Amino acid sequence: MLKSHFGVNRKGHLVCGGVDTVELCEEFGTPLYVMDEERIRENYRRFLRAFGRRRRVRLCYALKANSNSAVVRVLATEGAGADVSSENELRIALGAGIPGEKMVFNGNLKTEGELRLALRHGVTINIDCFQELEVVGRLAEKTGREARVSFRINPDVKAPTHPYIATGLRESKFGFDVKSGEALEAYRRAKGMRNVRIVGIHAHIGSQILDPSPFVEEAEKVMEVVAQLRELGIELEFVDLGGGVGIPYRPEEREVDLEELARRVVSTVERVERERGMHEHLLVFEPGRYLVGDAGILLARVEYTKERKGLPRWISLDAGMNALIRPALYGAYHHIELANKMNLENDTLTNVAGPLCESGDFLGKERLLPRAERGDLAVIFDVGAYGLSMSNQHTAKPRPAMVMVRRGKAALVRRRETFRDLTRLDLLPPWLR
Ligand SMILES: Cc1ncc(COP(=O)(O)O)c(C=O)c1O
Repeated sequence: MLKSHFGVNRKGHLVCGGVDTVELCEEFGTPLYVMDEERIRENYRRFLRAFGRRRRVRLCYALKANSNSAVVRVLATEGAGADVSSENELRIALGAGIPGEKMVFNGNLKTEGELRLALRHGVTINIDCFQELEVVGRLAEKTGREARVSFRINPDVKAPTHPYIATGLRESKFGFDVKSGEALEAYRRAKGMRNVRIVGIHAHIGSQILDPSPFVEEAEKVMEVVAQLRELGIELEFVDLGGGVGIPYRPEEREVDLEELARRVVSTVERVERERGMHEHLLVFEPGRYLVGDAGILLARVEYTKERKGLPRWISLDAGMNALIRPALYGAYHHIELANKMNLENDTLTNVAGPLCESGDFLGKERLLPRAERGDLAVIFDVGAYGLSMSNQHTAKPRPAMVMVRRGKAALVRRRETFRDLTRLDLLPPWLR
């Protein structure tokens, strides 16, 4: 079943953003990422509406999902803030028009240079360890700038997701432990520091979570810390519950019920505020995947096919784990169809391989597709998040191009890498020249 923002035209071709995807490939080549601008806007507005109807809220788009400048620009024009986790993401967000005051800087390792840039632009720094707090305090004093800080706490919430993207467990590398009192100690230390202004609290329990319950548990645990802070005389401006809201990747998966999520999370936050006599905090979320995941597809050419009696048919695409690493890395499922044969029966059991010399290089196993022939066009769905941003150049394959589509128009938003791009940074030592 196609998601509602796609269509199929009379030729049986997949249509995205009002554009025939087969024609897109003729114009821009393959492999090709395609981002649907309207879908990004719809996703942003749906998320904002669900929470914004109930509460003062800010959505800080997590650039790690897709840091393409055009994608970030779309969200900037919607009024989004940004969650950045490197200096360059910060620069991209600034370039897209998101002011530093609407950004949070996350991650367990921010270098001094990165912290300096964040300070210069008034970005809130989500501190991850005691040493980082000391560095921020020192830099703030040295530069005479006030540092806006919050602390990433580890609420010890088990999220039902892949272990590599579960981040809220006690043993995870992120944040300050709550149980041992480490989190409160961090706030106590910051309170005594000059040029450091405590503004919030932050947690992120993991990614690709489809069930509202872990978020409710997270809200409960974070608000308990907020209440304890108040007793220490520390009042916060915002409560940042991170990202992690998932999207359906498999046809049988259901969308997250955002209304239920918003209702349950907001009522948890409000109950604690009421019971402990606290003011209303600004609620911050850092959605990445939810905003851009299903707005992106990857188009790849079927180059060769192979038949072995009694086994699924193999097809080799010109995109694999180099262009989209999630299946190889997490065993992630991405739905696949043939973009030029959307009206044909999915009657052939098919293994979908990439082009690299690696057995792990596949995008799907044992999928039902129409019988694919050389020259057909495969479409891999839901790749707008953690697709191009995690792509690589293994076996010296250039990374794909990306276009943005909107109301029947298409524009290149990232050009395809070339041989020159691939070798530009290589140098020969003098003795080999
Ligand atoms: C701190 C933080 N915020 C937000 C996100 C975005 O997560 P998602 O794309 O699942 O919404 C991540 C993802 O790893 C993260 O680590």
